[in-house]
Amino acid sequence: MTIYVLNGPNLNLLGSREPEIYGRASLDDIGKVLDAEAAKAGRKIAFRQSNHEGVLVDWVQEAGAKGAGLALNPGAYTHTSIALHDALKAISIPKIELHLSNVHAREAFRRHSYISPAVDGVICGLGAAGYLTALDALIRLIDKKPFP
Ligand code: DQA
Repeated sequence: MTIYVLNGPNLNLLGSREPEIYGRASLDDIGKVLDAEAAKAGRKIAFRQSNHEGVLVDWVQEAGAKGAGLALNPGAYTHTSIALHDALKAISIPKIELHLSNVHAREAFRRHSYISPAVDGVICGLGAAGYLTALDALIRLIDKKPFP
């Protein structure tokens, strides 16, 4: 079954958007590396991005119906979206909130997340490598082998 990796608003601009905060890798670069890593582990990835909250809600619901696990970088919707919180609460697959930057070391408004109470774990501050960490963590959760 597919592992969903969903990306929210402005993440289509990765590589050129505030590279000192978000790094120089594009979303496409990240998707390709993740695909290759997932293939090595015998998994398939659905890697998507939308700037629209409702589209992300639809995809979270789809992940709940068809996916094995979900990593979500909700972008700024992290700090505003009760709709995404509710969508995540409604699905029972392993779910991880993911951020490139360390949201706790930035502006105060980024310290509150509507997403964190609705997921199994949170990864932030590791840059693009956080996507690989999320994939690894999801596979462990899906396989119910959190620790060797
Ligand atoms: C982000 C952090 C959010 O606060 C911000 O709005 C983003 C990106 C991150 O990956 O670090 O768009 O989710």
